[in-house]
Amino acid sequence: MKKIITLALAMILALSVFAGCGKKGEMTVEEGKLIMATNAYFPPYEYYEGSEIVGVDAEIAAAVAEKLGLELEIADMEFDSIITAVSSGKADMGLAGMTVTEERLKNINFSDTYAQGVQVVIVKQGSEIQSIDDITGHSIGVQLATTGDIYATDDFGSENVVEFNKGNDAIMALLSDKVDCVIIDNEPAKSFVAANEGLVILDTEYVTEDYAACISKDNEALLAAVNKALADLTADGTIQKILDKYISAE
Ligand code: ARG
Repeated sequence: MKKIITLALAMILALSVFAGCGKKGEMTVEEGKLIMATNAYFPPYEYYEGSEIVGVDAEIAAAVAEKLGLELEIADMEFDSIITAVSSGKADMGLAGMTVTEERLKNINFSDTYAQGVQVVIVKQGSEIQSIDDITGHSIGVQLATTGDIYATDDFGSENVVEFNKGNDAIMALLSDKVDCVIIDNEPAKSFVAANEGLVILDTEYVTEDYAACISKDNEALLAAVNKALADLTADGTIQKILDKYISAE
């Protein structure tokens, strides 16, 4: 009898460890799923192809989910809402070409870095803005709550910064002369410039940054698991393959 109880106890223990310790301590919000919060207007990291969200982040998340034996679900929302969605347990992780910053680290954990970004300046061809210094006194379009928004506000004053919900809305404003330039990450910048005639990216790197997945401070287990998956996917070349697929070498 004693033996059976011990065995049963051992099994329960093993099972609960396996499942991340029952309901409360489960590794993800919904059992068996990995819910990724993103803002899918940020090519080539995340964007719609028909009704499907594709891109670097979507594929990395799918590879991570597979490693963890979870089914990936992507939740598209305003960029502004991602950190709250993750910290409040509506999503498991945010993957959105999101830059690691000291400020964000106060509210959320970041995984290891999987890509680099550069904030660049887009202007209309023939613009009098030819360098970062020329921006002073001109209006700047940015995506709300992005690092581009934060840096532009710090450097040029909030009165000169116009915030848009989507990067592409800032581009439309630039095309219709409602703003004089747009500050945004380099890869989306390239795809916006390729998709719209008459725009150029200034040959200057405003700020360089690291992208990572954000995960709740209350979920160290998922952070460790995602980091392990990212390390494996880096080691076996998967991450590089995904980056190469979407980002052409200069
Ligand atoms: N890298 C910038 C940031 O973290 C912009 C990211 C915007 N991402 C997006 N999916 N819209 O603030």
